Amino acid sequence: MEGLKIPRHIGFIMDGNGRWAKQRKQPRNFGHIHGSNRIDEVVTACLDLGVECVSLYAFSTENWQRPKEEVDKICDILHKFLNQYAKKLIGNKIRLQISGDYTKFPKKIINLIEKRLEETKHFENRTLNIAINYGSKQEIVSAVNKLIESGKTCVTESDFASALYTANLPDIDLVVRTSGEQRVSNFFLWQIAYAELYFTPVLWPDFDKNELLKAIEWYSNRDRRYGKV
Ligand code: FPP
Repeated sequence: MEGLKIPRHIGFIMDGNGRWAKQRKQPRNFGHIHGSNRIDEVVTACLDLGVECVSLYAFSTENWQRPKEEVDKICDILHKFLNQYAKKLIGNKIRLQISGDYTKFPKKIINLIEKRLEETKHFENRTLNIAINYGSKQEIVSAVNKLIESGKTCVTESDFASALYTANLPDIDLVVRTSGEQRVSNFFLWQIAYAELYFTPVLWPDFDKNELLKAIEWYSNRDRRYGKV
């Protein structure tokens, strides 16, 4: 623990739920349930270590193409999570933020999201940012359109960053992707410009506090030069 450099913002690409379930001869949704049960431990451990913001990739714009049964189950899990985890968010003074167009989800999820956003909006120091119906290219294009609509003809990096879902958040310092895939899959492309990328073969439902510490130890040994020597 000593000498650990703590990232301000960690992004998790929670991959491998389907394979985890398959290894156990269970339907994919079994993996999503176990995957969602991991979130509390990992997010709590991050915040306890002093991470200010945790971003989770829960549902991409491409995930709508999965079978309806799987999409419906992920919606149920999300609903349950927002229902139960909320008390903790409030108790621990964590602000909930959503990146992505959540209005495409069923009404009961939209209502719950809006309730949680309202209940936690005054918390300033720690944020749980959940990416749902999120795609980075879509976010970038919609930021450009927002800036054009506002009448701008020339923008700065700061103007651009302000038009993203993450306007108020620091850039992502560390991306953790589970399950051995080495891709960024349309995850906060602007915000990860200087992030360290940590890939682990561990499947998301097996990713625990211990695995998180390994990722942060690895990050602590990186030499972040931001283009300098
Ligand atoms: C990737 O595994 C996982 C997803 C696309 C969904 C992640 C969703 C959850 C963990 C639950 C809901 C989220 C919250 C915030 C409560 P995969 O299905 O692509 O696995 P595979 O690559 O092994 O098939």
